[in-house]
Amino acid sequence: MAGVVLRNLAKRFGETRVIEGLDLEIQDGEFMVLVGPSGCGKSTALRMIAGLEEVSGGEILIGGRVVNDVPPKDRDIAMVFQSYALYPHMTVRENLEFGLRIRKTPQAEMDRLVTEAAQVLGIDALLHRKPKELSGGQRQRVALGRAIVRKPSVFLFDEPLSNLDAKLRVQMRAEIKKLQARLGVTTIYVTHDQVEAMTMGNRIAVLNAGKLQQVGAPLELYERPANLFVAAFIGSPPMNFFKARLEGGGGRIAAAGFSLPVPAALRAATAARDGAAVTVGIRPENVVELGRAPRGESARIPVTVDIAEPLGDEVIVHARAGEDPVVFRQAPHAIPGIGDQLEVQVELDHLHLFDAETQRRL
Ligand SMILES: Nc1ncnc2c1ncn2[C@@H]1O[C@H](COP(=O)(O)OP(=O)(O)OP(=O)(O)O)[C@@H](O)[C@H]1O
Ligand SMILES: [Mg+2]
Repeated sequence: MAGVVLRNLAKRFGETRVIEGLDLEIQDGEFMVLVGPSGCGKSTALRMIAGLEEVSGGEILIGGRVVNDVPPKDRDIAMVFQSYALYPHMTVRENLEFGLRIRKTPQAEMDRLVTEAAQVLGIDALLHRKPKELSGGQRQRVALGRAIVRKPSVFLFDEPLSNLDAKLRVQMRAEIKKLQARLGVTTIYVTHDQVEAMTMGNRIAVLNAGKLQQVGAPLELYERPANLFVAAFIGSPPMNFFKARLEGGGGRIAAAGFSLPVPAALRAATAARDGAAVTVGIRPENVVELGRAPRGESARIPVTVDIAEPLGDEVIVHARAGEDPVVFRQAPHAIPGIGDQLEVQVELDHLHLFDAETQRRL
């Protein structure tokens, strides 16, 4: 087993800077998710750790050893790709054996490892089949099997579930998480799906445009996003944002369609910034319909309904507060109509304030 450390890691393709100054420590046995929008550099970072891409600056350590110049096969890692990359002409058994054969593993040992991996993944009945005779989920399991038979120190996953349908993705997500917990192998898992990140990671590292935005446990990121990017990226439906100004000695938040008192916990930060432009963030679950008790202090704001989406157990309401859109959930008792004017309660203890200029959390 081994932890992975990235120190001031950089990658350039010619003039293009894809990754800059990336510092990240993944503990031994940890499940770290690297998440960010398409093109932010996730695969590039992972490929550098795997040794498939040269490093332009900084260091990569695996198990305390700098591996910048160590070839991929000597890094003791196993990578699972989005495309599975199974050998189509080989049976499942041969696919599982392939990496072991290259390492000249004795046949008896190979049989034992393949049987064990196949049992863990529930593919023991499929060992004689070719990849084309398997479903997407089964192929995914074989790709995982090929990684686990090798008993590497580190697993690297690059969007391994994105070819699966939604239902299978949820199922495989749970399976991978269980498997990792059971094997205790240090894992770096790349995805652009924030739900996958939230549900799978011990910790999440959020990347945007090649720069690390925040690292932390899923709920830490959810409850205390360090900046607007993380606030907007994590959570579904996403956080609502309003442009506003601090007034009254920093004691009030004045937005276009409403005004709110600054909660006590934020007063110290706002007092020094009276008159400053801020962005207010409010998660949908902290906008509570009238008649339901809010948690902690709350204040009412007027909204105009654009559209309501009944989902059975709840209604997602898309409305407007002033000019800004606001999304919230309500119980399915009555579905508001287009143009309805309502009041909703904002839970003040759950407000997020960001500096409008730096976009950092206050
Ligand atoms: N070989 C290359 N030469 C030039 N630019 C490249 C090369 N490989 C990747 N890039 C660029 O680097 C950036 C990051 O690419 P990368 O594949 O790491 O993104 P990603 O975060 O994995 O995105 P996705 O979620 O779409 O897979 C992109 O802008 C991409 O166009
Ligand atoms: Mg990628």
